[in-house]
Amino acid sequence: MSEQPRQPRRKPAAEGAGGRQSKPAKPYRRPQKDPVRMLAFEVLRAVDERDAYANLVLPPLLRKARQDESFQARDAALATELVYGTLRRQGTYDAVIKACIDRPLREVDPPVLDVLSLGAHQLLGTRIPTHAAVSASVELARVVLGDGRAKFVNAVLRKIAAHDMDGWLERVAPPYEDDAEEHLAVYHSHPRWVVSALWDSLGGGRAGIEDLLEADNERPEVTLVARPGRSTPQELLEAVGEDSALPGRWSPYAVRMAEGGEPGALEAVREGRAGVQDEGSQLVAMALAAAPVEGRDQRWLDGCAGPGGKAALLAALAADRGAFLLASEKQPHRARLVEKALAGNPGPYQVITADGTRPPWLPGSFDRVLMDVPCTGLGALRRRPEARWRRRPEDLDGFAPLQRGLLREALSAVRVGGVVGYATCSPHLAETRVVVDDVLKGRGAGAEPVSAELIDARPFMSGVPALGDGPDVQLWPHLHGTDAMYLALLRRTA
Ligand SMILES: C[S@@+](CC[C@H](N)C(=O)[O-])C[C@H]1O[C@@H](n2cnc3c(N)ncnc32)[C@H](O)[C@@H]1O
Repeated sequence: MSEQPRQPRRKPAAEGAGGRQSKPAKPYRRPQKDPVRMLAFEVLRAVDERDAYANLVLPPLLRKARQDESFQARDAALATELVYGTLRRQGTYDAVIKACIDRPLREVDPPVLDVLSLGAHQLLGTRIPTHAAVSASVELARVVLGDGRAKFVNAVLRKIAAHDMDGWLERVAPPYEDDAEEHLAVYHSHPRWVVSALWDSLGGGRAGIEDLLEADNERPEVTLVARPGRSTPQELLEAVGEDSALPGRWSPYAVRMAEGGEPGALEAVREGRAGVQDEGSQLVAMALAAAPVEGRDQRWLDGCAGPGGKAALLAALAADRGAFLLASEKQPHRARLVEKALAGNPGPYQVITADGTRPPWLPGSFDRVLMDVPCTGLGALRRRPEARWRRRPEDLDGFAPLQRGLLREALSAVRVGGVVGYATCSPHLAETRVVVDDVLKGRGAGAEPVSAELIDARPFMSGVPALGDGPDVQLWPHLHGTDAMYLALLRRTA
């Protein structure tokens, strides 16, 4: 590789003039600023430099860009695709870029890598013609990196352009037969440990895990919930427009915005009568509400309520039965979001800020309890394109005691005969079955076995196929079109 990424930036006037007398210097041309690529680059830098979330950084930048009339809806769509696609496929693109340079990736300046990844995505992951993808990336490099490093970008992208995605995957991924997990990690752009954990939980052969990993690389539809008693799916279908809205697959309260769109523009959402909520989360709240309890059914608790999606649905379902919901959340700012989500609920509720592992409530005071515990979020990779690269296996150790503590407290909070729903937005077995098993058997320092039994959650998700052997339930993006939510239902027995 002749060009080096860290070569000093040369003054434009000197460019091309060094020593080669026979060839006249090319006149200097100012680089073209392409607002779409500039915006995408800015988001990638924010994600990389300050651990920002793309789905939070991108919308305000798009809104600002749209103030200029020349930045049209299709520019916004392209910027979004470039950001999300580049972040999702980062693992694959890193492997390709690595094969095109003569140094370890960690020695390439991060802004240079971001420009290269954006270029790789345009070349390998979109229909943008090769010459346009290269020239747009080189122009971007000239603006944000300088002319010297733009030449390096040009050289690397020309190498990448020599093959299409399939050609590169054959070159950079090991054969499946030699190393199945690494093959899948490179082909489907997931960290290897995540492939391994998802496969352990999903089970089965190659086809299932490949479908799951690819589903993680799709952008999920926006799904709405019509909070019962406050709005109806019909109202949402009409508001979204019947040609672009679809009813939910599984939840009677769900409406899918199949063509995308801005949920905040809908009156019912602005007024809190409806919300944005994945169908998996709706199913979890509905299943907890549907499981039979023996006797009284008047006091419900959501012990990890923030930001309030499940609490709002539970509160509406509770109101229908004349039951009360206590929504508790440890983080004050998230408790305020719960307040907002529940405002206007037709039945009785209260929102408090409390640590669910040191609860202010008395043991045995609730008939139904939801503990939707903090977790790695490996079940929502579709939504947070950068999350898979940030998570580390060590994060599991951090969540483990908290998840066990919260489940133990949930089982203490519920009265004998009442029901607890233990939920995670992660299918990692260490956060799902292993936690439930440990708590029931009293494993861990100082822990006592708990008098509770697992009940079959599957009948309370009626009509939903492929729920496994039970008694707990694991939803999957590729099978259900939902986040990979997990739910175990437990009844307190003594
Ligand atoms: C997975 S989220 C819950 C999502 C929520 N059920 C919903 O549907 O919107 C977990 C929540 O638990 C909160 N949390 C973390 N530690 C907690 C604790 N010790 N006690 C109570 N809440 C806690 C987090 O702040 C976070 O808001």
